[in-house]
Amino acid sequence: MKGQIPLEELQAQAQQCRACPLWEGRTNLVFGVGNPHARVLIVGEAPGKNEDEQGEPFVGAAGKNLNALLELAGLVREDVYIANVLKCRPPGNRDPQPLEIEACTPFLREQTRTISPDFIVTLGNFATKFILKTDRGITGLHGRLQQAGRFKVFPVYHPAAAIYDRSKQAALEEDFRTLGKLLGA
Ligand code: URA
Repeated sequence: MKGQIPLEELQAQAQQCRACPLWEGRTNLVFGVGNPHARVLIVGEAPGKNEDEQGEPFVGAAGKNLNALLELAGLVREDVYIANVLKCRPPGNRDPQPLEIEACTPFLREQTRTISPDFIVTLGNFATKFILKTDRGITGLHGRLQQAGRFKVFPVYHPAAAIYDRSKQAALEEDFRTLGKLLGA
């Protein structure tokens, strides 16, 4: 097996990346933060406005929701590592484009190899489809434990999508409680 690349080195590479045009519009690269030895890797979609400004994932409204959800699983942010499929903000928070995902995900792949978590929690469709290499939507997959290679994958709704949707929020809360049980098992 190839050696693992230190996260600092990957971040320095991402800082220089010009593989898609998104770097031109960003304020900051949002590489990822958290415990480099985490048992749980959380994967979101892409930085939003607040994340782009602060250079850190999930610091806006969705991040507040994520913090509350982590607590339901018995976790705090310091326990986990949080990264996104895309490291640069798409203009106006539009969906990631296939070529951007293709260009950017080698970084997520290497982050995953380096952190080597037991669980990958995928937030929403983009992260779930990329990690599981599936076309199945999050509605049918959320809360059901999957396997991708040596990783247990637990897909859930995106916490931003649930802010104004009470049924999605209820499902998210239930799924994070389930995650807590899976981690304790
Ligand atoms: N939504 C995401 O998917 N990622 C972030 O970092 C913030 C909001």
